[in-house]
Amino acid sequence: MTNSASAIDLELRHPAGSTPIRVGAGALREPSEELLNAVDERSVFAITSPAVRGLHGTRLAELEARAASWQALEVPEGERAKDLTVAEGLWRELLRAGGKRDSLVLAFGGGTVGDLAGFVAGGFLRGIDYIQLPTTLLAQVDAAIGGKTAVNLPEAKNSVGLFHHPRAVLCDTELLSTLDPAELRSGLFEVVKIGAIYAPDLLSRVEERLSSLLAADAEALAPIVAAAVQAKVEIVEADPEEADRRRLLNFGHTVGHALEAVSDYRELRHGEAVGYGMLFALRLARRRGLGADGADQVRELIRRVGLPPLGEVSVAALLQRTARDKKARQAGLAWVYPSALGEGRIDSAIDLEEIERTLREFLADPWSE
Ligand SMILES: NC(=O)c1ccc[n+]([C@@H]2O[C@H](COP(=O)([O-])OP(=O)(O)OC[C@H]3O[C@@H](n4cnc5c(N)ncnc54)[C@H](O)[C@@H]3O)[C@@H](O)[C@H]2O)c1
Repeated sequence: MTNSASAIDLELRHPAGSTPIRVGAGALREPSEELLNAVDERSVFAITSPAVRGLHGTRLAELEARAASWQALEVPEGERAKDLTVAEGLWRELLRAGGKRDSLVLAFGGGTVGDLAGFVAGGFLRGIDYIQLPTTLLAQVDAAIGGKTAVNLPEAKNSVGLFHHPRAVLCDTELLSTLDPAELRSGLFEVVKIGAIYAPDLLSRVEERLSSLLAADAEALAPIVAAAVQAKVEIVEADPEEADRRRLLNFGHTVGHALEAVSDYRELRHGEAVGYGMLFALRLARRRGLGADGADQVRELIRRVGLPPLGEVSVAALLQRTARDKKARQAGLAWVYPSALGEGRIDSAIDLEEIERTLREFLADPWSE
């Protein structure tokens, strides 16, 4: 990790090379040399959403000035962007505009735009370069890091995708000042997640600065984003294609994905669903090593970050959806929880009867022990 005047430079090494990651308040005003070189004299397709372009599009002017040609392509807001028809529309647009193997895609938006743009870049002419410029906290700490791209099918979220690492990632925490506060909270749950299973000091850092973080203070956010990114980098480097350890990042996600799916992705944001999913998994963790103090610390931080109420959900619907989770392997579901703070465990040996009973208790009162 190195620091420029006001930015923190990190690197993710992966089988296809390495990705430089710059994090800072105002980092887009001082793009790294790698980023400028990647854009230099190329045909650039900036994939973004109308809201993000309207709020922050002018911040791309320096990059646009370096490109040989520049085209902004707008996609729908939110999950509707992660659709095969949207991807097809972009591929055809790229072809019509003369896109070539040395063209460059920029992903300028939240995790949905990043997942879609990475997928489009990965499939176009068997794979072209792309750069992630994530504009939500969730995308900066999680979605833009690690090379996973995907679109959704009606049957299941993220069910068609590929590993395709960006050429560079730049996380400018100033962009987060315009986020809806609920989106900021959603991103903070992913920070809590990685703290609980891998980097426990992050939990106390978030606790200490919570009011500044929730106020979208760019200077307070930058070191937290950098620390969360660094933790994810270490996990991904050890297991780039999720054969094993990378599954630690799914803490809170099995029940989280199921909660998102039963409400048809309309009631809970991704991070909020993960917040509830972590509350569920803490119950499994308490029977398997995690002490009461550790569980209380994580639960209390989730409470302080702030979850919306959970609507009506049945145990049967949740069970059916967890079984369909794409992380389910033939051998059964793998559950992730901290067996001690900062020590995530992947456990495939929890029987269905315990899961069903624990879901019942969780739905009766998500906050109780
Ligand atoms: N690839 C991965 O490894 C990975 C990891 C985690 C999550 N994800 C994916 O990320 C997606 C969720 O991402 P998200 O939470 O960023 O949601 P999102 O992309 O839907 O963005 C949330 C909302 O914020 C708005 N927005 C974005 N930037 C803004 C800004 N700076 N100011 C104001 N508004 C802004 C968007 O228009 C949108 O309405 C999910 O599809 C999830 O599957 C992927």
